[in-house]
Amino acid sequence: MNKVQVIGTGSYVPSKVVSNDDLSRMVDTSDEWISSRTGIKERRISEGEDTSEMASKAAMKAIESAGIKPEDIDLIILGTATPDNFIPSTACIVQSNIKAMNAMCFDISAACSGFVYGLDIATQFIRTGSCKTALVIGAETLSKIINWEDRNTCVLFGDGAAAAILQTSDVEGILAICRGADGSKGKALVSSAIPVKNPYVSKEMLDKQVDATVKMDGREIFKFAVKVIIQEVEKLLADAKCSLDDIKYIVPHQANSRIIDSAAKKLGVSEEKFYLDLDKFGNTSAATIGIALDDMVQNNLLEHGDKILLIGFGGGLTYGGLIIEW
Ligand code: UT7
Repeated sequence: MNKVQVIGTGSYVPSKVVSNDDLSRMVDTSDEWISSRTGIKERRISEGEDTSEMASKAAMKAIESAGIKPEDIDLIILGTATPDNFIPSTACIVQSNIKAMNAMCFDISAACSGFVYGLDIATQFIRTGSCKTALVIGAETLSKIINWEDRNTCVLFGDGAAAAILQTSDVEGILAICRGADGSKGKALVSSAIPVKNPYVSKEMLDKQVDATVKMDGREIFKFAVKVIIQEVEKLLADAKCSLDDIKYIVPHQANSRIIDSAAKKLGVSEEKFYLDLDKFGNTSAATIGIALDDMVQNNLLEHGDKILLIGFGGGLTYGGLIIEW
């Protein structure tokens, strides 16, 4: 089996900052409610850029930080719940934008677990020798599927993209991986696609209007998230034969600081161990973990040999995580 390392990261968020006060002028909410219930202070919202544009910008930054050329990339995996189109995949659009013409490209639909699922899949391709250099992206334009009149959801989400480059290496950088899903809880977070409409369906089906905006049972996901963080962190530590003391940072999916507080208490670990930047960006679904990772790199928080634990959860419901040695 080949060894794998993360050799570069990049991220991109739109310049438009939308504060909690801005939202309180649109729906019946307040900075006090949003800050205390979620930890979110502001988020970035696209003024027209679609997922592929943000993803391409994050990808170019990751390529630069890794010191490779776009043509070195032989695999592009893009996690998103908000692709530009059904066809072509957003990964293919990115490939064309960044001129990575030697790559196999595909999108994955794993909602907020998209980035960690992508890292997992890329690791398997590299370990088996099928690929040498992979670009993994998590990118979302959630603002296009949000109901801007629904205070239960519109205050939570933001737009953005993050990327990482993985490559074969002499030393192992991926120490443990966990993954899973519980499709029986899928209705807790839904954004509907096009219904079946053709000359053979009933009139009722032809007349059916679909609302694609996000509908969420926040409490159900909250419980699921706390459960999987605890369960999977313990599993990852056991697989990597290390303890929480060996982990410099836990980088969780950034959905709600109260989820992290609750998980931290149950794990018996300080909240300081969790790296959070959701006050600045809100929940960018597949992009949150990658944006946080790149934020840490930009702020020189990671040194060679540091161990970090990534843990994602979200729609599907899905979850996944990795322990990475930097
Ligand atoms: O990315 C993965 C998917 N998402 C998540 O991980 C989200 C997980 N869940 C959560 O983060 C939390 O459940 C929420 C932040 C979504 C909601 O927090 P909560 O403490 O579970 O609130 P709630 O849904 O139980 O609502 C409490 C009250 C309700 O009012 P009543 O019925 O008690 O009168 C809501 O109508 O808060 C009200 N409310 C708001 N009030 C002001 C809901 N949203 C807002 C709002 N501003 N934006």
